[in-house]
Amino acid sequence: MNSIFMNKSVLLLMLLTIFVTLQMMAGMVYGKPFDNTKVMITNNMTFPLLVHCRDKFREDGLHNLLAGVSHHIKFYKVPLIRFIWSCRFEWRDGSGHYNIYDSNRDRCKDYNCFWLINKSGPCQNFHDNKTPVCYSW
Ligand SMILES: *[C@@H]1O[C@H](CO)[C@@H](O)[C@H](O)[C@H]1NC(C)=O
Ligand SMILES: *[C@@H]1O[C@H](CO)[C@@H](O)[C@H](O)[C@H]1NC(C)=O
Repeated sequence: MNSIFMNKSVLLLMLLTIFVTLQMMAGMVYGKPFDNTKVMITNNMTFPLLVHCRDKFREDGLHNLLAGVSHHIKFYKVPLIRFIWSCRFEWRDGSGHYNIYDSNRDRCKDYNCFWLINKSGPCQNFHDNKTPVCYSW
């Protein structure tokens, strides 16, 4: 092994270690003061909505939201790692599934992610835009 190759291996190992450490931090640091991201989910229907969200590190449990009621997910968004929160929604006569948060798509720093859920799909509200942007399931 020449020294250039050695250096590359050491660097790779270091990067791998850092990456794994960040992943572990992401899994462990939950519901702590470090949380920098909050995704608010509001039932916009006139009947109860069952919400079940998970990301690859943890699962948020089942939440039954009455009409107009909100639930939020708070977590520490570790830099460089892609976070996806995938949610299943169920109501009396239907269901839907949506990735309510994807760090490659959303910028929810300082509690800016806000979703309204109704039968046709989720609608995202933005602070700088009063009109929600709606998607279908
Ligand atoms: C649904 O959202 C609209 C727009 O924000 C609001 O006016 C309405 O009161 C909401 N309905 C429920 C049941 O939350
Ligand atoms: C869904 O919610 C959005 C935002 O409140 C609203 O503009 C839209 O009309 C709703 N659609 C239905 C079918 O309730």
